[in-house]
Amino acid sequence: MSAEEQKAAAGRAAIKHIRPGSIVGVGTGSTVNHFIDALAGMKHDIRGAVSSSEASTGRLRDHGIEVLDLNDADHLPVYVDGADEINRHLQMIKGGGGALTREKIVAAVAKQFVCIVDASKRVDVLGTFPLPVEVIPMARSYVAHELMKLGGQPELRSGFTTDNGNLVLDVHGLQIAKPIELERNINNIVGVVTVGLFAQRRADLLLLGTDNGVESITA
Ligand code: 5RP
Repeated sequence: MSAEEQKAAAGRAAIKHIRPGSIVGVGTGSTVNHFIDALAGMKHDIRGAVSSSEASTGRLRDHGIEVLDLNDADHLPVYVDGADEINRHLQMIKGGGGALTREKIVAAVAKQFVCIVDASKRVDVLGTFPLPVEVIPMARSYVAHELMKLGGQPELRSGFTTDNGNLVLDVHGLQIAKPIELERNINNIVGVVTVGLFAQRRADLLLLGTDNGVESITA
């Protein structure tokens, strides 16, 4: 099975975790796009969606799914999103698509985080995928130097601006032995909006697309 087929299978599998009548938290990326396409099949059974990016908002609306402001969502039972890497504790690196800040906000509000990925995203130690950090533009150079002090090699994501009007530094060369500690340390650097480490708020359920079907894994 190709990685794309594994992503599609994981996206479809997430549908059975959506409660009829609820508002659905929707992440960003190619795996989530499969989930959104599957969600369209039950659009008359949900109240609407809260979206983590302009890209997902567009796709949801194209399917006729109402997109609500997070501030108007009284209760968000489930958030479905992909990841760039995920470890056995269901801690993740996210932000390959640059939507990390809104993703982290919606994930914080949701009661359950369902992560959907293909088998290639499963890792023993986080950090092979460069860690995205969203940065206020005027702090780019300062934050880059602070990230170097933590042992990383930050690289500006060229020609890219987030939905919030900020920059992304992709940090190479980190072997992330203590994800919660590193998440806290990077978030403490002045000028950092969000780090794409999702360790304090990790996933609750992993739906892993494999050649043998979709595995459900809890931490
Ligand atoms: C976007 C993300 C995505 O979830 C992550 O990049 C995975 O994307 P894909 O499903 O396309 O592999 O964090 O900011």
